[in-house]
Amino acid sequence: MKKFLVVGNPIEHSLSPELHNFWFKNNSINAIYEKKNIKEDEFTGLMLEIKRKNIHGINITVPFKKKIISHLDNLSIESESTQSVNTIYLDNNKIIGHNTDIEGFERSIKNLKLNLIDKKVLVLGAGGVVPSIIYVLNKMNVSQIMISNRTKCKAESLKDFFKDITVIDWGEVPEFDIIINATSVGLKKDDEIDLDLNKIGKDKFFYDVIYKPNETNFLKLGKKLGNKVENGKMMFLYQASAAFNLWHGFQPKINNQVINLLSQ
Ligand code: ATR
Repeated sequence: MKKFLVVGNPIEHSLSPELHNFWFKNNSINAIYEKKNIKEDEFTGLMLEIKRKNIHGINITVPFKKKIISHLDNLSIESESTQSVNTIYLDNNKIIGHNTDIEGFERSIKNLKLNLIDKKVLVLGAGGVVPSIIYVLNKMNVSQIMISNRTKCKAESLKDFFKDITVIDWGEVPEFDIIINATSVGLKKDDEIDLDLNKIGKDKFFYDVIYKPNETNFLKLGKKLGNKVENGKMMFLYQASAAFNLWHGFQPKINNQVINLLSQ
């Protein structure tokens, strides 16, 4: 039986095992996918397990997407450009790191038929998933990417890889067409982002990377102000299906049954 893992800290909230185990069952794949809370000093042991083929693939989540890189043999172009790895596999005895968050975010935007060309985008946060979001926004030819993070220097350091971003102060609300919450604020039901968005007007688009709860206070406010909103559910599903494809060689089905798995 093949073994797969998602590792992070914290990890309890992860729905990746539900998803991958569902796909294993539906496709008669003899494998198991588990979650594991780890510390950084466990990476070396985990990589050995991959080389010995005791573990066949790993998803990496917060806060290790960058820290894992020094333990890998090769990176995909996407991982190299974002310094972010969320999927690991063995190829010709080399451990490869790939970033499927990019495909996840890109497909979720395309799914919405949202035209991003020449749009101004405000991204809140500078954590693990933000480089992937910037990578896609650049690819989709937005006119401006503004990054606002509570700890400004973390946003500034993104400039090392993405020269064209504009860093703004936390609390400042510039004019934008699209606003993306990529902070962890909203994971708890009562969380409120400490920003005054009441004067932004209508016809904007609010995107929240968070999918649990289904509708964060950020998205509730977006709706109340007359804007379109979308949570991170499809992004999560598409990044998982891209990882599945790397490991098993085909894209699993994303149907209502799968989508409902994430709505528990
Ligand atoms: P990491 O920062 O370890 O990569 P993450 O979950 O990917 O973890 O990122 C969390 C993001 O949410 C960060 O941008 C964080 O801002 P800081 O860099 O200032 O920590 C942001 N965040 C978390 N709590 C926040 C809060 N109460 N208000 C605003 N931003 C917050």
